[in-house]
Amino acid sequence: MIKDGGCYMLNREDNELLARVEGDAPMGELMRRYWMPVLLSSDVESDGAPRRVRILGGDYVVFRDSEGEVGVLDEACPHRGASLALARNENCALQCLYHGWRVDRTGKIVETPSEPADSTFKDKIRHVGYPVREAGGMIWSYFGPPEVEPRFPDFEWTGRKPEEIYTIRVAQRCNWAQALEGAIDAAHSNFLHNDLARRLAAGGDYTGGGGLLNLQLIDGAPKLEVQNLPYGFQYAALRDAIEEGRPKKYVRTTQFVAPSWALFSAPPGWVFSQVFVPVDDYNTVFYFIHARDDGNVIDEPYRAKILEWSGVGELDNEFHMDFHVGNMWRQDRDSMDRGKRGDGFSFSGMTGNQVEDLGIQESMGPIYDRTREHLGTSDLAIIRMRRLMLDAARRHERGEPPLGQDKEFDYGEIRAGERLLDIGEPWQEHVGNRGEIREGVARG
Ligand code: FES
Ligand SMILES: [Fe+2]
Repeated sequence: MIKDGGCYMLNREDNELLARVEGDAPMGELMRRYWMPVLLSSDVESDGAPRRVRILGGDYVVFRDSEGEVGVLDEACPHRGASLALARNENCALQCLYHGWRVDRTGKIVETPSEPADSTFKDKIRHVGYPVREAGGMIWSYFGPPEVEPRFPDFEWTGRKPEEIYTIRVAQRCNWAQALEGAIDAAHSNFLHNDLARRLAAGGDYTGGGGLLNLQLIDGAPKLEVQNLPYGFQYAALRDAIEEGRPKKYVRTTQFVAPSWALFSAPPGWVFSQVFVPVDDYNTVFYFIHARDDGNVIDEPYRAKILEWSGVGELDNEFHMDFHVGNMWRQDRDSMDRGKRGDGFSFSGMTGNQVEDLGIQESMGPIYDRTREHLGTSDLAIIRMRRLMLDAARRHERGEPPLGQDKEFDYGEIRAGERLLDIGEPWQEHVGNRGEIREGVARG
């Protein structure tokens, strides 16, 4: 790491260490030590089409068998490598189209019909299968060494019913780290998401709750304060505000949870989480989990609104939208015309929150070159994430436990929040986290 005139910069080696996840890259080895979302539960039906999924540079097939249980296996057939994503899915196994071998959800070879009837060949080999969990409307798997399977990240929302959760998902053609950096970047909403911020300020809150998000508009240059915690860190963005003529601080906290989760403040009755799952060095799948925490369901009109505001439309089999550099992310320059202030005016010219994030992050290049940037005071949380993750990758390479996994804490107590506080009131005691996590306590 280079210190340059008080500025924080990454050198080329650190930039590569941070970004690359394929093969035996240390960051990939670290991230394989955590449970990862691989699909939404609704993506696979019993005896329905298997899905091919690429995560951390590995290719897998995911399917739901005749008993309704999910299997996550290596994609390549153990016989001669045909894709099991093309396989038939019936009678509690995938049947490879090429020579008919049948593999169950655990990786057991149950039949090799192209071998002689008396062959015991199938009992001597096994296909590679991975541990599977279903929680919070998602399918999760663990791709690290079996002997050190980590604790499941049981966030508050992972215990919620499917109708209390709505998840937006989209693939981005860029590296995971620059996508995550967007989620812990408090200063960009006023600008990139100006259209949304103005709609919220005008009372168009799609989540139906009170929320203070519109206060962000008052002060476009938040001061950031960061606090390390057992699982990563939380930061507060502090903005000047006024209440009944008295100066106040509008505080909004965001959580970074290793390896690539961001939890941010939601209106009352809601919990918002985002996760960035690396596909490979140059691609990422982004999930935005909207969950109710007041027992209400998210009905169809709400789902439609969340989807509309995100701008996420039809996705291909790898979850890509038809928005990319080749069509300049469908930016509408006409709508950016200042003469159009009011109806139809857009600051970004892009349709929706997620399209804005995706377009900007892809525009930085497949692996953003951090040796040429100029970080300011509003980039404090981004600097902290890079430091923690670089340090975690190096420690893990030396045989130390992955970040957070040698600590006891309750994922369910991790919360982001927002409040108007009196000047000088300590935000750590009033905003977000619950229970012991509030104090930054970690047992062990
Ligand atoms: S390659 Fe799958 S059965 Fe031969
Ligand atoms: Fe954003």
